[in-house]
Amino acid sequence: MSLLTFEPRPATPPRFKHPATPRALVPAVVAHRGSSAQLPEHTLAAYETAITDGAHGLEADVRLTRDGHLVCVHDRRVDRTSNGRGAVSELDLATLSTLDFGSWHGRERARQQQEPPRSAAPQQLLTLERLLELVCSASRPVSLAVETKHPTRWSGLVERELAHQLARFGLLRGRDGQLSQVRVMSFSSVALRRARALMPALALVQLTTRPSLLAPSGTSVWGPSIDVLRRHPELVGQAQARGRAVHVWTVDTRSDLELSRDLGVDAVITNRPAFALDALGGSVAA
Ligand code: G3P
Ligand code: CA
Repeated sequence: MSLLTFEPRPATPPRFKHPATPRALVPAVVAHRGSSAQLPEHTLAAYETAITDGAHGLEADVRLTRDGHLVCVHDRRVDRTSNGRGAVSELDLATLSTLDFGSWHGRERARQQQEPPRSAAPQQLLTLERLLELVCSASRPVSLAVETKHPTRWSGLVERELAHQLARFGLLRGRDGQLSQVRVMSFSSVALRRARALMPALALVQLTTRPSLLAPSGTSVWGPSIDVLRRHPELVGQAQARGRAVHVWTVDTRSDLELSRDLGVDAVITNRPAFALDALGGSVAA
């Protein structure tokens, strides 16, 4: 890989970068809930835009509906991001599919920018299945970090259904014996242990808001919040010295992007992939 150009990240998770790696490398850019600063989070439009923006990877939260479908929704309830009400786990796919997951975003952006209220275009619920179709049909390799949200009444059924869906798409392993282009992320170490048992060829990401490197064995990526990184920058090198890649979230400002780059993190998870790519420049740390 050239060090002078910004090349797409390979479909495999990052190789582990030792702290002594030259700083000419920059983190891979992962679109958090799609290009979600610009478009409603977790919608097909947000992910399509992220790919067009040049993101190396996509991040999505998944939850199980009452009738066992994995859908891309962050909150336990749909109230914030749709015109409906209720917990995802208590609604069925048919009901969720009637809701508008787009219009709220216009109002939210107007509020943030202190402008008069406006509506964004209506958007449909995004299923994991549709997101996997998008990833598999992309014109270049794009990684996908799937976060299983816990606690939920469905507990281990979430990882089981994720394994089922990935198997359907041939994503339980990568090409030529490499790791899959899909990673599983969770704050729950129990969920990561389940994922390791069900999907052994997937990289696992331990998410945390604490300055701790604790993670189940087999976890190859440490996923701290940017706040942890700001307060404990030394943990980046410590994680990498233990053979873990570092994927930090949510990195939206120039100063945080530069901090992440200077610390040598492997991937930044951002709501603003186009801005992040522009701000980081250089080649990808892979
Ligand atoms: O990518 C990790 C990050 O998404 C975890 O936090 O609340 O945005 O899912 P949250
Ligand atoms: Ca997430």
